Amino acid sequence: MATEPLDLNVDFFTGQPYPLWARARAECPVVEMDGSAMGNDRPMLAVTKWADVEAVLRDGETFSSSINAEHIGVFMGDLMLAMDGKEHRSYRALVSHAFRPSQLQQWDDRLVKPTIDDLLERIRPLGRADLVASVTSQYPVQVICAIVGVPLEDSAQFAQWAVEINTGPLDPEKGMAASQAMRDYLAPIVEARRAEPTGDLISDMVHAEVDGEKLTDEKIYGFLRLLLPAGAETTFRALGNALTALLTVPGLHDRVVADRSLLPALIEETLRWETSITQVSRIAVRDTEINGCPVAAGTALSVLVASANHDEERYPNSGEFDLDRPMQNAMTFGTGQHQCLGMHLARMEMRTGLDAILDALPGLHLDPDLPAPVIAGLAFRGPDAINVRFDAS
Ligand code: HEM
Repeated sequence: MATEPLDLNVDFFTGQPYPLWARARAECPVVEMDGSAMGNDRPMLAVTKWADVEAVLRDGETFSSSINAEHIGVFMGDLMLAMDGKEHRSYRALVSHAFRPSQLQQWDDRLVKPTIDDLLERIRPLGRADLVASVTSQYPVQVICAIVGVPLEDSAQFAQWAVEINTGPLDPEKGMAASQAMRDYLAPIVEARRAEPTGDLISDMVHAEVDGEKLTDEKIYGFLRLLLPAGAETTFRALGNALTALLTVPGLHDRVVADRSLLPALIEETLRWETSITQVSRIAVRDTEINGCPVAAGTALSVLVASANHDEERYPNSGEFDLDRPMQNAMTFGTGQHQCLGMHLARMEMRTGLDAILDALPGLHLDPDLPAPVIAGLAFRGPDAINVRFDAS
């Protein structure tokens, strides 16, 4: 039933929602929630079980993504995350060209590996560091800036705008200012690539055509505003979650150091165990039902991909990090027509990043004199700090 008085809201930044989601899965898998913590003031239901999450995300005709235009779209502009049906398909065809597999391999060699190596070079001699401040918070944003074609020296500014756009529903004034600032900054670069393509992603976007149509300026800026938060914030937190597992799950670090072929399993289990984005949004466009629960047209849905990843029916002992768990794709990147466009890039960045960290920082362990990392948050999850020591070199 959808009317159980189960309050799923916890503090946006420090909350621990998994126990509440477990209760919802057991007692009332489609549950009413107060959406105001997510910047939503409609009637809202949370969907918590794997099968229901999958069914909703695969039925784009009944469950529209247009609701994204109402909250995050206000700050990101004309947004593919908020498009449905044919409009979304054509747009996705245009932008996904830039993420083709041959391109990924080039990025790995040319951008990803040098970026992480450079960051690690700075901390190697120190013997101690906060891996969030000095590595993970800078690495994916530098990669995405390089992919887009933005100078490296502006990547810290981009990271700041990305956070402010992402949390725009909580602080609209800051979100709008960041959105406008990013557009003003990007406008001359877009114009320059239009006149003279340089092979970067912006060049690709301004010249790409599907059925003779090019992307409008608003759609280009909408994509770029999405790409920076989508590509930087998510991967930075996911990498922090992987490092937290590596350094806190007994025996894990030694096993992975001894056998690097375990890295893909470490990454997949991290993405299931603690994903960095816990939910995606949809709106029912007609009266329907989910798992026997009536859903009226106009109801907003918080589709809890993180809860699906802990569904005990699919993942026994789901709260435990288990490197030897049989591999099954998690719901971390969504499914259906909006499935994450950057998932191969995210996995590659995590793999290259973790491999480089293990190479560069032998003897890596948590700093015994400082607090251990804590993964926290309602919508976005990751540790604020990972204080470590290692053999200086
Ligand atoms: C671990 C890291 C990441 C996670 C957990 C993640 C998660 C997701 C999820 C759940 C969606 C589906 C949204 C929906 O159904 O409404 C999505 C979509 C998307 N992601 Fe990611 N993402 C990650 C990394 C990236 C990266 C690195 C990029 C790009 C550089 C990226 C770009 C996008 C884009 C453009 C979409 C929209 C796709 C569409 O609407 O068709 N993501 N992501």
